[in-house]
Amino acid sequence: MRLQNRILKAGICLLAAASLLTGCDKKSEMVPAETSPAPKPVVIGFSQLGAESDWRSANTQSMKTTFTAENGYQLIFEDGQQKQSNQIRAIRTFIQQDVDYIVLAPVTETGWDTVLQEAKDAGIPVILLDRQVDATDDSLFTCWVGSDFELEGRKVTEWLRQYTIRKGIDPSEIHIVNIQGTIGASAQIGRTKGLARAAEENGWELLAEVPGDFTQTKGREVMAELLNMYEDLNVVYCENDNEAFGAIEAIEAAGRKAGSDLQTGEIMVISFDGVKKEAMEYVYEDKISCIGECNPDQGAMVQEVIGKLERGETPEKFSYVQEGMLTHDDTVTEVMVGGKKYPVTVVTGEKIQE
Ligand code: AHR
Repeated sequence: MRLQNRILKAGICLLAAASLLTGCDKKSEMVPAETSPAPKPVVIGFSQLGAESDWRSANTQSMKTTFTAENGYQLIFEDGQQKQSNQIRAIRTFIQQDVDYIVLAPVTETGWDTVLQEAKDAGIPVILLDRQVDATDDSLFTCWVGSDFELEGRKVTEWLRQYTIRKGIDPSEIHIVNIQGTIGASAQIGRTKGLARAAEENGWELLAEVPGDFTQTKGREVMAELLNMYEDLNVVYCENDNEAFGAIEAIEAAGRKAGSDLQTGEIMVISFDGVKKEAMEYVYEDKISCIGECNPDQGAMVQEVIGKLERGETPEKFSYVQEGMLTHDDTVTEVMVGGKKYPVTVVTGEKIQE
């Protein structure tokens, strides 16, 4: 329907151009015969939730480099600064601007029904990016592109299970703290679930779950407190790399060592993303033991979805990005989750240069 509107608008422009050419000889002499009106760009309103992490910056970059004027788009970018109210305001502005598509990367899952209904009533398709919404009605959004966060959590915890078995460490010797992401965000909900389930199944002690907001500052702050509270903690599960960077700072400031050798008293750091070079270097140096990759390059997939919608096709309701796993050594080369095998890549010097 919106495509038809655009065709209609383009048609009106063409008619106007034609009447100019035929109605006035002087003007027709001035306009070269082959001049045709520039095609109207596809207008996309993108509400990004913020800029809390390296992953988020890479995700924003992926969208901005995909939806360029050269590629035929006009991208209206709004940074929600971690506030749902800002994102709701941005969506309402996009509706007033009559954009062709709205892309929403929602900060948390709940509370979107009203504004999504407004977009639906205006006939504007909404594509969800990265995180999901807990909507009462699936028809309030057109489709979603992102990661399976619970699967990410299950993959890294399965790596931990296998790693400790191979090192002869008893499950009762595992004492974990979870530095969670933004509470209520899909990435937090899924990764927290993945760990809670594995801790219960394997008999690991889950000492604490505390919010770290996906930031380095909060990761450092809460890790310092956790180290004071739990003498026996030996694994920290950080729900993203920025939290892990902060946690490592706190571990080192406390005179402890981040590393995989639990038998010598090192504190094992597990995390998610694997986007920044610094994260790769930390894995290479064995400061981070395992990273469950979270793929931020989602722009091309959103473009594919929009291409389908433009052609009148129906895209998949849920499209998952491909993601691997990174570790410092080859103790565990693959993990099996839900009957599927996932390879584990050892971070080498060359991998860091990639
Ligand atoms: O929703 C994806 C998560 O959000 C990334 O893992 C994290 O780094 C980001 O802030």
